[in-house]
Amino acid sequence: MIKSSHAKTLVLTVFGLCFSSLVLAHTGATGIVKERMEAMKDMGKKSKVVADMLKGKTAFEKSALMEAADSFVLHGSQMKDQFPNTEHSRTGSKTEALPEIWEDKDRFNKDIDEFILLSETLQELLSTTDDQKALKAAFLQTAKSCSGCHKQFRKAKK
Ligand code: HEC
Repeated sequence: MIKSSHAKTLVLTVFGLCFSSLVLAHTGATGIVKERMEAMKDMGKKSKVVADMLKGKTAFEKSALMEAADSFVLHGSQMKDQFPNTEHSRTGSKTEALPEIWEDKDRFNKDIDEFILLSETLQELLSTTDDQKALKAAFLQTAKSCSGCHKQFRKAKK
């Protein structure tokens, strides 16, 4: 149960973290770094649509949540393979990935597992209910796991 004012604050905090880098164009990225940046950006775009909805800027559309959840599940399932322990992956293409990813791979992979689980839960909920409150809560929980991972494993914005 989240009260709506609290939910709004949460949305703003969570999304400030998720989307601040959407405006930064990563032109010139190549290989696996480019691949994972594109995947992250896709999730970012779809989450932004949902965030606008939850902030009341746009009307509630369940389909937007479904698109977001589908992209989370898809990209979540590929994430473990997108951070190989190679020179390019660790330092190439202006990556924002932190060395902690490879120094503490178990924890990084655990974060991915948690993200996948939350995304699948959201997907399931979407197929079983139209309750907006429940759907919003599940979405916010998933989005928190985006920023949770970013806090640990991605360079802070300057
Ligand atoms: C398990 C960790 C993890 C999870 C979960 C995760 N991310 Fe990321 N994300 C990263 C890392 C690491 C980077 C930096 C990648 C790089 O620069 O090579 C990143 C980068 C990004 C970027 C910047 C992409 C770019 O062009 O540089 C966006 C946007 C983003 N993530 C959005 C999201 C959203 C939205 C979610 C959840 C729906 C999410 N991420 C879930 C770890 C994660």
